Amino acid sequence: MLVWESAYRIGEKEMDSQHLMLFALVNQLDININQEMAAECIGDVLGALESYIAYHFAQEEALMRSWGYPHLDAHVATHEDFIAKVAALRESVLTENPLHSAIKARGFVLDWLLGHILGTDADYVRYIAARKTAAQDRS
Ligand SMILES: [Fe+2]
Ligand SMILES: [Fe+2]
Repeated sequence: MLVWESAYRIGEKEMDSQHLMLFALVNQLDININQEMAAECIGDVLGALESYIAYHFAQEEALMRSWGYPHLDAHVATHEDFIAKVAALRESVLTENPLHSAIKARGFVLDWLLGHILGTDADYVRYIAARKTAAQDRS
């Protein structure tokens, strides 16, 4: 069981709840691994995770775009690279040793998500917060 901690919140309400949802899906993967579910089941969970990742990234990119975030392109490239890696991991769950590949996927996705949320995502939140403060100071 993976435990979500309040320290993973970055202070942007909608994105925080989407991150929590991503975390819940990684937990589903964890449960499937611990119960040694069939490759198809693990593949389905990874497929659901991939879909939600794509949804979350699109929402996040739209938010950054709406605020004119200057590092948008680099952030999008990081998202795209991650999506490609998760797709490759799902493929290996279905075609190679499923449990071994799933354990690899769980570790990779969890590490990547936490690192990305606390580093790359936290940066656009700081930028938006600064823009909001500047707008308030002007009014
Ligand atoms: Fe995010
Ligand atoms: Fe992101």
